[in-house]
Amino acid sequence: MKHKILVIGSGAREHAIVRALDRSEQEKEIFCLASNMNPGISELCGGFTVGNINNPEFVVSSAKKTGATLAIIGPESPLASGVADALWNMNVKVVGPKKKLAQLETSKAFTRNLLKEYNIPGGPKYQVFGSLDGVLDFLNDLGGYYVVKYDGLAGGKGVKVAGDHLRSYGEALDYCQKLAVGGGEFVIEEKFIGEEFSLMSFCDGESLKHMPVVQDHKRAYEGDLGPNTGGMGTYSDANHSLPFLTDGEVLEACYINNQTAKALKDKFGEGYKGILYGGFMVTAGGVKLIEYNARFGDPEAMNVLSLLESDFIDICYGIVRGTLNQTVARFLNKSTVCKYAVPEGYPDHPVKGESIDVSLVSNPDNLFYSSVDTQREGLVEAGSRTVAVVGIADTIPEAEKIAEKEISSVKGPLFHRTDIGTADLVQKRVKHMNSLR
Ligand code: AMP
Ligand code: GLY
Repeated sequence: MKHKILVIGSGAREHAIVRALDRSEQEKEIFCLASNMNPGISELCGGFTVGNINNPEFVVSSAKKTGATLAIIGPESPLASGVADALWNMNVKVVGPKKKLAQLETSKAFTRNLLKEYNIPGGPKYQVFGSLDGVLDFLNDLGGYYVVKYDGLAGGKGVKVAGDHLRSYGEALDYCQKLAVGGGEFVIEEKFIGEEFSLMSFCDGESLKHMPVVQDHKRAYEGDLGPNTGGMGTYSDANHSLPFLTDGEVLEACYINNQTAKALKDKFGEGYKGILYGGFMVTAGGVKLIEYNARFGDPEAMNVLSLLESDFIDICYGIVRGTLNQTVARFLNKSTVCKYAVPEGYPDHPVKGESIDVSLVSNPDNLFYSSVDTQREGLVEAGSRTVAVVGIADTIPEAEKIAEKEISSVKGPLFHRTDIGTADLVQKRVKHMNSLR
């Protein structure tokens, strides 16, 4: 049987997804519904259509044309607009939760309430607000260690942290006022201190298979300075943990993902089918949940899918059919470092439409295209994270050297973080955790 598989999305994460599908020896044809031209994805697909991937009618009519019976949704916005629901309604099986289950990512208040209702560990002290009433009292309660989060999708930009983005109660109240005037709810929660990591799990509604743990770097500049971004780069370790984590801490995060999947099944009577991505912080008081995402991380997908030894098509069927417990999900015991090259001026004032040249990248299998466009003059920057590379080796510093060499060979008005995955930066994380424990 030939599998017809539709991938929705066209960034580097989806390039990694398409590559993992393409590696399967099963007979298949891959199609992509894209929001921009991605030459790396397009060359692996039988069909590549650019359109509004957040519009369920468009996605459904495009899926019909391809004859796809399995779809994988890459980004969060189609999940939020009910694309998974629309596809299931016409018998296309979907890796990616339905809209109500995707609230895990789309509503911070939903997730905090779910953890509380089901007594799942890792939650902060928090309150949900719709106005300024009671805000100052709660900020006082938290003793200056607080985070204010807009209760909706904001690409990471709706979160403001005390001492970082908010320097006084006055600034915090101004931000809350802005959110309340916009008619939105917001969550104020306890600020955790520690090191962040991502644990993504394949989930079929009942069973979970956990992937190697990854650390992302959200700040634009070296030394974790500058504005927040979608993620500038990531690393993972050969033992599938991270140098600053104990085995027990990884198990705590796995437990939180397992319990959350159970809670969703209980709450909705229907299981979560897709990638359950927990954003965690390890603190002196154990592992805490920062947020959930309802999809693969970007860049994290590039780290883990580059290591996936098992057949990704089998895993996808395991997820949609609810047979994941009979499916193997094995990852190579290697370290990975992923680095993004982004346009000069990113994220606030990125240059756009400028030519880039990737011809000097020595191993094209390690290159992932993201926000690019193809014009008469060749490949150009499309304004967001442009291309990424992954280095794979026995140790993190060795993988870093490969990634650094490859990303430095990409020419154009771009920049990247040279520090991600270096022995110095990894040691800094370890020391930080040792000082807190
Ligand atoms: P989120 O969109 O919830 O992941 O938040 C974006 C970033 O804000 C996270 O990656 C953290 O760096 C930071 N953050 C969010 N919640 C907390 C928290 N409770 N304590 C400390 N930092 C947080
Ligand atoms: N790496 C962060 C994210 O995918 O949301």
